[in-house]
Amino acid sequence: MSASVLIAPSILSADFSKLGQEVRDVAAGDADWIHLDVMDGHFPPNITFGPQLVAALRPHVDKTFDCHLMIEPCDPHIEAFAKAGCDIITVHAEGTKHLDRSLQAIRALGKEVGVSLNPATPESAIEYVLNRLDLILLMTVNPGFGGQAFIPAIVEKVRRVKRIVGARDIRIEIDGGIAPATAPLVVDAGADALVAGSAVFAGGPSAYAAKIAAIRTGVTNESRAA
Ligand code: DX5
Ligand code: ZN
Repeated sequence: MSASVLIAPSILSADFSKLGQEVRDVAAGDADWIHLDVMDGHFPPNITFGPQLVAALRPHVDKTFDCHLMIEPCDPHIEAFAKAGCDIITVHAEGTKHLDRSLQAIRALGKEVGVSLNPATPESAIEYVLNRLDLILLMTVNPGFGGQAFIPAIVEKVRRVKRIVGARDIRIEIDGGIAPATAPLVVDAGADALVAGSAVFAGGPSAYAAKIAAIRTGVTNESRAA
């Protein structure tokens, strides 16, 4: 499992004054995906960026754009993010009245389909849409800000979701408070993609490769010890 864990740096913690350079640097540091946190100031208490910025970043790297839409309602905006060049579009179960319809809309646009759950939302929220999913994004912080503390109670939810997913080809991605110390906890519970914002971008570009490697190494060492 550890060998296939993907690292998705969140540009939320990057230097916003030079985002093109930042995504190139983090890609050169061996990031697997680029995680794009879109916030509307209504679903979470913060505002980030929209599809125009995603489109502007698209030519800078050929990495998978992993787009996390924290907007409510999400449906009116899905197409714009698809056109902007997102590869995976993840919507919150709490951010749409008709989750099944939102997921179908992403698929119809030819994109990979993700659903996210806030820490307090039970995994039963996605029980009846599993056949529509490529990815489940479990929040280990409440949406809104980088640098928050990892919520340990969610490790058990990761384990339950892993059980529910079973043999289906669905990735389990974890978002919030991921660092070399917390990554092994969620990977052992079944996660195979990790978002990391502050743990990657703190320290500047010369440290990106080492920070990403430290998260991977944390996972590998823990698995070896197990
Ligand atoms: C929070 C965002 C996360 C955030 C993670 O709402 O979805 O992607 O950037 O930041 P860290 O890794 O610093 O917790
Ligand atoms: Zn995110």
